[in-house]
Amino acid sequence: MNAVTTRDVLARKGGTPLVCLTAYTAPVARLLDPHVDVLLVGDSVGMVVYGLENTLSVSLDTMIAHGAAVARSSERACVVVDLPFGTYQESPAQAFRNAARVLAESGARAVKLEGGLEMAETVGFLTTRGIPVLGHVGLQPQAVHAQGGFRAQGRSPEAAEAILADAHAIAEAGAFAIVVEGVVESVAARVTAEVGVPTIGIGASPRCDGQILVTDDLVGLSPSSPSFVHRYAEVGETIDAAAARYAADVRNRAFPSDANVYKAKRAAGGAG
Ligand code: KIV
Repeated sequence: MNAVTTRDVLARKGGTPLVCLTAYTAPVARLLDPHVDVLLVGDSVGMVVYGLENTLSVSLDTMIAHGAAVARSSERACVVVDLPFGTYQESPAQAFRNAARVLAESGARAVKLEGGLEMAETVGFLTTRGIPVLGHVGLQPQAVHAQGGFRAQGRSPEAAEAILADAHAIAEAGAFAIVVEGVVESVAARVTAEVGVPTIGIGASPRCDGQILVTDDLVGLSPSSPSFVHRYAEVGETIDAAAARYAADVRNRAFPSDANVYKAKRAAGGAG
């Protein structure tokens, strides 16, 4: 199976939509890999896996550990790892140092970072030094306090123009694609029509060049999902039912059964 490269992703501008999902662990990466073009090891791992309120305290080491698990367990998808809050905003040199660690230690093909105009210099610094970058504009979870919570962006004409300017700046700086999160549909459609690299929407527009969702939302492992998610399965209900049956079987001594225990070898020469 041929692995999807960041160049393949870039070449999909205006073509067959890119299929992207988050993955944080080896077993989930293995299951998703044949179906997707991009596996994103998002810093949403902090909220989804570690039960944190937001992504701000996720560390670089955490991202590298989850990134390595996902990269080891996928053959086809282009694995991208988020640079977490505080590991790239200070300077292009800081971003390069940390992004280089992510690629070297996780085996991922690219990093993602949040931001627009203010991050363009950093995106240019990384991409001209061999580090492919996936941009991220619109709702930026790492800017949760600055943006006033997890709320849709681009509702006013000024806000819409700012998102467009952000996307143009990141694309022109060399990003191979841009995640457009939580923006008014018409704004996401305009960004897609105007910028030269693929847009990957989440809570954005069907007109984006691709879509991404948090896998736990998609499969019903999150207690509830935002309105832009379609839950394709209810895996949480399956786990709940399995745990209930296991608990009843243990309490009734129905588990372990004869088939689930080790037997001693028969003595040599013994009867029967
Ligand atoms: O961290 C993440 O999972 C993300 C996606 C929601 C795009 O950034």
